[in-house]
Amino acid sequence: MAGSANLNVMIKAARKAGRALAKDFREVENLQVSMKGAGDFVSRADINAENIIREDLTLARPTYGFLAEESGETEGEDPTRRWIVDPLDGTTNFLHGMPHFAVSIALENKGQIITGVVYDPSKDELFWAEKGQGAWVNESRLRVSGRNKMIESVFATGLPFGGSKNLPLTLQELARLLPATAGVRRWGAAALDMAYVAAGRYDGFWERGLNNWDLAAGLIILREAGGLAEPIDKKADILEDGEIICANEAIFDQFAKVIRNV
Ligand code: IPD
Ligand code: CA
Repeated sequence: MAGSANLNVMIKAARKAGRALAKDFREVENLQVSMKGAGDFVSRADINAENIIREDLTLARPTYGFLAEESGETEGEDPTRRWIVDPLDGTTNFLHGMPHFAVSIALENKGQIITGVVYDPSKDELFWAEKGQGAWVNESRLRVSGRNKMIESVFATGLPFGGSKNLPLTLQELARLLPATAGVRRWGAAALDMAYVAAGRYDGFWERGLNNWDLAAGLIILREAGGLAEPIDKKADILEDGEIICANEAIFDQFAKVIRNV
């Protein structure tokens, strides 16, 4: 499936950053690391990957804006287009030597995400989607699972860390959900959690306290694979408020009822 010129630019940048991350991962014990907040780390690898992506994307599209986890917002000459980048989603996994992390790049056009790429260099899996064109992993089409029974379904979440205010709520949600399902996973990279729902590996995912760079690329991949996504609190906005509940269409309502406790 041939993608747009922008998609190709994104894939090239994601793969290049992915190669740099894979190299740093092999020497992870030598990396400089600092703490941004409780349990929130940034390493030389995050910054290096972000610089690679910024350089590639800015060279290819000099007028677009750029929002990224480590360097924040850079306004572009073109106010309608913006890259949204997480150079290393799953930093904690990375720093603990666990090969489950990804580069996440989305393109926003007039406030709407139109293209997304999530690249997992450890498994060489490139998840991508363009609006109206479906979602893919490498050369294969993605489709959410068809499971419609909670007891057969596996869900993913992000457990709060470092004194997050979301802990009591999440514990209550887990207490309601766990007995009703085949299990819940916490793998530590939200972009991959959404890509895995898109791929039918997980049947659903929910999390609060995210940023739009964690969510933007995964969201279009999930929706283009036939998944449903809403904010957990119906009055919120997924990207602005950083919260999501998503699943295959067949299980979404049952799953959302348990999480929302309605
Ligand atoms: C984190 C991961 C994790 C989620 C955290 C995010 P980072 O992103 O996506 O799964 O639970 O809330 O901050 O810091 O590794 O880019
Ligand atoms: Ca992230």
